[in-house]
Amino acid sequence: MDNCLQERRWFWTTLVLSSVTIVALVFAFWELVENRFFRDLDYVSLHYLYISRGVTASVLLAIWAGWFVTRQRRIAEAQLRKSHERYRGLLESSPGAIVLYDRNLCVLEWNASAERLYGWSRSQVSNRELPTIPPAQLTELRCFLDLVEHGDPVLDSETVRINNLGQEIEVQLSLLPFREGQQLYFLEVTSDIRERIRLRQRLIELEKLTSMGQMAAGTAHHLNTPLASMLLRVQMMRERTDSQNGFYSDLQRLEHSIGFCQQFVRRLLDFSRRPSSRPAPESIGPVVQAVLGFLSPSLQAKRARIVVEQNDSAHIQVLAERNELETLLLILLSNALNAISDEGTIRVRLENTPDSHLNIVISDDGCGISPAHQAHMFEPFFTTKPIGKGTGLGLAIAKNIVAESGGEISLVSEPGKGTNAMVRLPVCDTPAAVPQ
Ligand SMILES: Nc1ncnc2c1ncn2[C@@H]1O[C@H](COP(=O)(O)OP(=O)(O)OP(=O)(O)O)[C@@H](O)[C@H]1O
Ligand SMILES: [Mg+2]
Repeated sequence: MDNCLQERRWFWTTLVLSSVTIVALVFAFWELVENRFFRDLDYVSLHYLYISRGVTASVLLAIWAGWFVTRQRRIAEAQLRKSHERYRGLLESSPGAIVLYDRNLCVLEWNASAERLYGWSRSQVSNRELPTIPPAQLTELRCFLDLVEHGDPVLDSETVRINNLGQEIEVQLSLLPFREGQQLYFLEVTSDIRERIRLRQRLIELEKLTSMGQMAAGTAHHLNTPLASMLLRVQMMRERTDSQNGFYSDLQRLEHSIGFCQQFVRRLLDFSRRPSSRPAPESIGPVVQAVLGFLSPSLQAKRARIVVEQNDSAHIQVLAERNELETLLLILLSNALNAISDEGTIRVRLENTPDSHLNIVISDDGCGISPAHQAHMFEPFFTTKPIGKGTGLGLAIAKNIVAESGGEISLVSEPGKGTNAMVRLPVCDTPAAVPQ
């Protein structure tokens, strides 16, 4: 501001001084000419001489002022262009998404990072209402705007924005005041923190899993022996009781409950087990057949239809412990079996992918999973089964097994239509032995 005022003062001082100098020079020159050549002029001629002096001084002054003002203006324009380019350069090269808007959320600036993060181009949002605020975040933004107006900038707050596809993006946001004269604007700088949040969640999950694993291992160890002796005693008592006696069914129920507790303890041990130390190349086909054979009584009881589509993928080998592979398939197939109704269908598809992975897809036409539950499927102890029926550890164990083999697991489900459980495992480099 001071600089600007000073520059303006210099401009006018230079213009006035130089103009006075020009006028003084013209007058001095005319004086010389008059003294040298027109000493004896009459009054009228002298009058014309003075007029010509005035005209010449005015013309020279006008030319000089015109040139001077134009030149200064060109310099000012060049400076303005340069500072505009610098401002845009800074704006565009910022790694954060910068958006400038007013109190009504009308967008005035939108940089290249904002285009990349949110998917809208500058021309699409300029002078329009800010499109990145999810309805649920509007109240929060209003609070932020109030804070900024009262001189408290918002720094590094984690919040959510939406992109042009309507997807939610977790961002870190700073909201700062931006003044232009009396007008207050809001400068929003956001950066994508989806990866950071994913890693943080993974870390929390890992910490949770580690402590749960330790707790599970201890609990399982302490429960195993008493449970086995309880079961034995209850079985003995039942065998000694007349089947017509009312106690008999009570003892049967007790036996069943102790059986469930034992299964829970086994799952806890599975869940807390150490990573496998000796994985070996294992052909997938025989493992699938073994697990289906093991489950066949339950499959028959439900009259379930099993379709195995393996083409030539049965011989594909993955590096894993056979026990673990069997546990993985058992968990997924049991879940599918629980989900289908009588005479439902379960499909097992094995496919080799071009990027050296084996996809194991287990699909069922069962009840599916509600969207509210889908986010919790892999959490330990999450179950929708009634108390005493499910441990909620199946998928958590499956996830651990797949992660140890360097693979990925996901569930895609449509309530009422069925579920696809997809496991992607890296194929073992050792040449596959085709079964005879
Ligand atoms: N194929 C599926 N179809 C529908 N729901 C499923 C399917 N697979 C998993 N689920 C849901 O995920 C929940 C968690 O599964 P998980 O295998 O971890 O535990 P669980 O089956 O409840 O208990 P457990 O495996 O000890 O019997 C289940 O309770 C069920 O609601
Ligand atoms: Mg299960």
